[in-house]
Amino acid sequence: MKFFIDTANIDEIKKGMEMGLVDGVTTNPSLLAKEKKDPQAVLQEILRTVPGPVSLEVISTASDGMCEEARKLASLGDNAVIKIPMTEEGIKAVRTLTNEGIKTNVTLIFQPIQALIAAKAGATYVSPFIGRLDDISQRGMDIVDDTCRIFFNYGFETEIIVASIRNPVHVLDAALVGADIATIPFNVLKQLMNHPLTDIGLERFLKDWQGIKG
Ligand code: E4P
Repeated sequence: MKFFIDTANIDEIKKGMEMGLVDGVTTNPSLLAKEKKDPQAVLQEILRTVPGPVSLEVISTASDGMCEEARKLASLGDNAVIKIPMTEEGIKAVRTLTNEGIKTNVTLIFQPIQALIAAKAGATYVSPFIGRLDDISQRGMDIVDDTCRIFFNYGFETEIIVASIRNPVHVLDAALVGADIATIPFNVLKQLMNHPLTDIGLERFLKDWQGIKG
């Protein structure tokens, strides 16, 4: 299972890389807005820093505009993946970009049939948003589970990025259902390694060791 980091913050990306937990990066307009810097410069630095795939999202809503933006973004680096929203216009753009050899990540997926349509259009990745579904009392992970089954049934190579992750249990469940990738915010990435019993156990070992020495 691959771990992507869901951030546009270069310090978080570098720290995640030091932990060995960054196989790729996903950004979106909201994450870029939080940085309060020139978005183009931020994206270029991320593309230079990370060897793996980096998702960059288009802003246009019409297919032609999406494709034009996507070509410019794709030229920023070989590892650029273009995030396209799951709309009728978006799916048209995915078909065109796939034919041109540009990698795409279809975003804002909230039901398995949307993922199937994106895969049929040739998407490299699909991003089901599980946290936002959980927020409105729908089981987000169910759509990931169903999407895994559909892709397996028909041998699609499109990879599933579990997105909108809010906590370590989301990552655990993504692994249990067999998702290819989880894109994880930095705070959750750090939480993955922690357990209070680990801290208590270590403290006791060190205290007992001090006892021997004393
Ligand atoms: C990643 O591709 C998504 O843009 C991101 O995970 C959305 O997360 P949010 O629902 O916390 O904004």
